[in-house]
Amino acid sequence: MAAVRRAAVIGAGTMGPGIGAVLARVGIETALYDVSAEALERAKGAAELAATVLERLEAAQEDGGSLRFESDLNAALDGVEFVIEAVPEKLELKHEVFRQFEAAVSPETILASNTSGIPITNIQTVCKHPERVVGMHWSNPPHLIPMIEVIPGERTGQGAVDATNELVRRVGYHPVQEKEVPGFVENRILYAILRECLDLVDRGIVSPEGLDLNVRWGIGYKLAVIGPMELLDMAGLDIYNAVGSYLNKDLSTSGEVSATIRKKIEQGRLGMKTGGGIYDYTPEQIEELRAQRAAKLVAVRKALEA
Ligand SMILES: NC(=O)c1ccc[n+]([C@@H]2O[C@H](COP(=O)([O-])OP(=O)(O)OC[C@H]3O[C@@H](n4cnc5c(N)ncnc54)[C@H](O)[C@@H]3O)[C@@H](O)[C@H]2O)c1
Repeated sequence: MAAVRRAAVIGAGTMGPGIGAVLARVGIETALYDVSAEALERAKGAAELAATVLERLEAAQEDGGSLRFESDLNAALDGVEFVIEAVPEKLELKHEVFRQFEAAVSPETILASNTSGIPITNIQTVCKHPERVVGMHWSNPPHLIPMIEVIPGERTGQGAVDATNELVRRVGYHPVQEKEVPGFVENRILYAILRECLDLVDRGIVSPEGLDLNVRWGIGYKLAVIGPMELLDMAGLDIYNAVGSYLNKDLSTSGEVSATIRKKIEQGRLGMKTGGGIYDYTPEQIEELRAQRAAKLVAVRKALEA
């Protein structure tokens, strides 16, 4: 497939604006569409912020790109070679929009879904050309995390996988091809970590603050430089075997979500968006933390890419 010139991002919530900014930066004429006029308006600011971050990152850049905000789906899909769907995580909604896409685009247009875990095989069932439907799972924030999971469904063709990998490389990101599995690879690993973290906090082994310090400066910092498989080789497989033989049996295997988390949800403590969750936040602190974290992620990514 020739290099993508026109693309559409459908759904302009948390993920859409950053994805749009990344595509526009590498020379793609990109349309960002949402059913909600309010979301589309908010997306303008979010996309601008993402573009500023990409500038600070000195991210790969090509001429000719643009980002426009469309409230008409057919105008957004006009002449596009690649569509990235980022609407809420509901199968019926994904089915509805994929049907709409097929009615508006050419049979060759690649239809990618940013779903966090709905099997692509289930999404593509409603499509006349399921071979061009593929999973393209960006990590949040999409303009900062340079890794994208590429997941073919049972009926996805190699052409769609190749085109997606090519687009991922073009924006300067790393594609990771996976087989379909619930949650895909990134979230399975994250949720395995979170389950153990919450178990340790729930049992009072460590405080939330202590746990965050331990993970950020222990495995977090290290894993950004040395992957788990590389870490095994570095530590020695015999060491892993010796420790894993007694430790694996002791790790949490609970199939339930932590009771502490469920209790906090009942209390309406959902995290930053309600002013508190595990920790408490004032609006000023939230703003400061967001800016600080974005700046640190930029600095760390630059250091890792150097
Ligand atoms: N938020 C994350 O961290 C994250 C990370 C990776 C993947 N994802 C996945 O990306 C997708 C989008 O997630 P999000 O967090 O951006 O959701 P969101 O709820 O923030 O945004 C979704 C947007 O889609 C719009 N929308 C609803 N119906 C629509 C329709 N028929 N056509 C066009 N737009 C429509 C909504 O108005 C909303 O603005 C989901 O599948 C989610 O699982 C999310």
